[in-house]
Amino acid sequence: MKIIRAKNYDHMSRQAANIISAQVILKPDCVLGLATGSSPIGTYEQLIKWYEKGDLDFSQVRTVNLDEYVGLDREHEQSYAWFMRSHFFDHINIDPSNTNIPCGTALDGNAECKRYDDTLRSLGEIDLQLLGIGPNGHIGFNEPDSCFTKGTHKVALTETTIRANRRFFQREEDVPRFAYTMGVCDIMNASRVVLVASGADKADAVKAAFFGPITPLVSASILQLHPNFTLVADEAALSKV
Ligand code: GLP
Repeated sequence: MKIIRAKNYDHMSRQAANIISAQVILKPDCVLGLATGSSPIGTYEQLIKWYEKGDLDFSQVRTVNLDEYVGLDREHEQSYAWFMRSHFFDHINIDPSNTNIPCGTALDGNAECKRYDDTLRSLGEIDLQLLGIGPNGHIGFNEPDSCFTKGTHKVALTETTIRANRRFFQREEDVPRFAYTMGVCDIMNASRVVLVASGADKADAVKAAFFGPITPLVSASILQLHPNFTLVADEAALSKV
């Protein structure tokens, strides 16, 4: 595990964007695993700036997103499909048909998980997986569990996660209770993993995940075993280690 200590959110975002941009330059048709949440927004903003300057070309890049809320249509403003378009895809020259996100409104949940697993397999290895971390140490929506789940699955969100994501919805009852998420093994199969963490409210999660025991109760902890894992965290997120 490599730790890059950043001064603050902006610095963290630039450091993570530098790693991703190197990946895109070295392998223009790479597969990027992408994340949502407020943590990676600054990283996407920086990548957009470099694209606008002509330094980055996403025309051949393929992407897979970690997760999506069950029940939200891709046009819903809180869907992760909408998030990715508004924060990243609409601002770069990526081919929309090269982007992949679970479908929140699929009628058959099992079939949707299988479809997404098939998509992951057809893309081959993820060259770089970008992650954030939930307050309970989850990655994607891999909530605390008794075992690490391998492939894409439907998950019931915990109270902690529902509360953390409440800020994006008008009312607590609007926060979806279920999500589709890539499994921990899918994430571990990526060649390189970069996790961004910022702010004091992530300090406990960072401590538990990367300086505590490896346990499915804190799904990010398995990244301690990844051969090419980089934590890019600011001083506040690292304040308890
Ligand atoms: C959600 C997402 C995660 C993300 C987490 C933290 O649970 N499924 O991928 O890492 O939120 O989000 P934030 O960066 O907004 O704290």
